[in-house]
Amino acid sequence: MLVSDIDNTLIGDKPSLVTLMSMLQRCGHEFGFAVATGRNLDSTLRVLRQWSVRVPDVLITSVGSEIHYGRELKPDVGWRNHIRYQWRRDALEQALAEVPGLSLQLPESQREFKLSYDVDPDAMPALRTLQAMLRAQRLSAKLIYSHESFLDVLPVRASKGQAVRYLAYKWGLPLGNFLVAGDSGNDEEMLLGDTLAVVVGNHSPELATLRGLERVYFANAAHAAGIMEGIAHYGFVCQGYSMEAG
Ligand code: GLC
Ligand code: MG
Repeated sequence: MLVSDIDNTLIGDKPSLVTLMSMLQRCGHEFGFAVATGRNLDSTLRVLRQWSVRVPDVLITSVGSEIHYGRELKPDVGWRNHIRYQWRRDALEQALAEVPGLSLQLPESQREFKLSYDVDPDAMPALRTLQAMLRAQRLSAKLIYSHESFLDVLPVRASKGQAVRYLAYKWGLPLGNFLVAGDSGNDEEMLLGDTLAVVVGNHSPELATLRGLERVYFANAAHAAGIMEGIAHYGFVCQGYSMEAG
């Protein structure tokens, strides 16, 4: 299964996206297709339609805090129940209200299991300091910083990477059967671990620290061409498909 971030990874370059999508189509059921994104479900469907990408088999949205399946967009209720653990959204919002450098994003970016802020990186305290402040108030959350401009506050059990591991567990598939692709901080956790990972050439600076790690391939090519480069690197193709034949 290919699990790709959307913005600046799957989308950004139309010709290579078309090639990637036709490869997936030719592989049929042998090769599942999922997206994992910071966008909410509506905005995900909108951007995929704009870029003529078919509805994925799995949609991991709102930074991994929601999972839906297929054209019917069937929500994964098990996932909701799993990540609900220790999540106190209102208390977290209150605790973060006075923190300098953080301003709440628009209402459509706020979800039941995702609290998101725009960040002024010069004014915001270090993530470690924020985490300690929350702990002192007996609050648990996962803090995900990306693009030097966003902070997502999620339940401790939620993230794009946790969502992928949950799918592997649920389907009894080895993590090595998942190729994950991303470009920025909210992909970091998903890129680490036992999946096969590819970082596209146009990645943001915060991912530079992953260079040299096993199972994290840094593509030279950007966007979908970078994903294709990663697929070739790992030999992650379905039977009967040859990259050369395009
Ligand atoms: C998307 C979401 C936003 C989030 C960001 C980083 O832009 O709309 O809420 O903060 O991704 O994950
Ligand atoms: Mg991205």
